[in-house]
Amino acid sequence: MIEKGRESLYHDYLEIIDLFRSYLRRKTKTEKNQRYQKQGNNAGEENSRVLLGNLYRSIKSCQKCSLHKLRNNLVFGAGNPDTELMLIGEAPGREEDFQGRPFVGAAGRLLTEALERIGLSRADVYIANILKCRPPGNRNPQPEEIEVCFPYLERQIEIIKPKLICTMGNFASQLLLKTSQGITHIRGKIQCYKENTSVIPIFHPAACIYKPGWGRNFLEDLMMVRDELGKRNNSKKIV
Ligand code: URA
Repeated sequence: MIEKGRESLYHDYLEIIDLFRSYLRRKTKTEKNQRYQKQGNNAGEENSRVLLGNLYRSIKSCQKCSLHKLRNNLVFGAGNPDTELMLIGEAPGREEDFQGRPFVGAAGRLLTEALERIGLSRADVYIANILKCRPPGNRNPQPEEIEVCFPYLERQIEIIKPKLICTMGNFASQLLLKTSQGITHIRGKIQCYKENTSVIPIFHPAACIYKPGWGRNFLEDLMMVRDELGKRNNSKKIV
């Protein structure tokens, strides 16, 4: 009897998560189309996909820094071009370089699971990195690499127009927020990025694999992100 009760609670829970997801998808599409219609463009949704495709084609053979010599694939970004939530990491690793998609290795699995726990799938969000090509041996991005690559990410943000950006780890957080403060100090604090877009820095999922206890913080911060998106959708007030 108790088992049955638990099972039906679990099914209710899954149903609520499903409803939340489809609500977010519908809401995002409608709002974005309304925004574009105001600007005299009827194909808002189509537009960000097309613009991202154009951007990808224009940079896929990029040779602006030495990383192109070692890459198997440029890792542009993946997900929903009309999302309200972008997640930004540092640079592709080995697996990402092979597959040409962001966060598909161990850190990616942790991220995917955490997103699912807050009721989102990877298809609901857009994931990208500061660098589009893998630094050898996963070393830190160099200033000259960031200088030439960051404008590509800025253009992606401009096209997608997310309400919230989660910067994952020190690199992405410090770069977008123009701060030298470490992630342990700034994680979970909402800050303004540009008009209509805020940033919430969170731990990098790769760090959560090695640091006991950080996984819990990672999930808590993502729950806060989910709540923040919910609040913005209810009140229509965009910071
Ligand atoms: N780490 C990152 O920062 N980005 C990826 O795409 C994968 C691992």
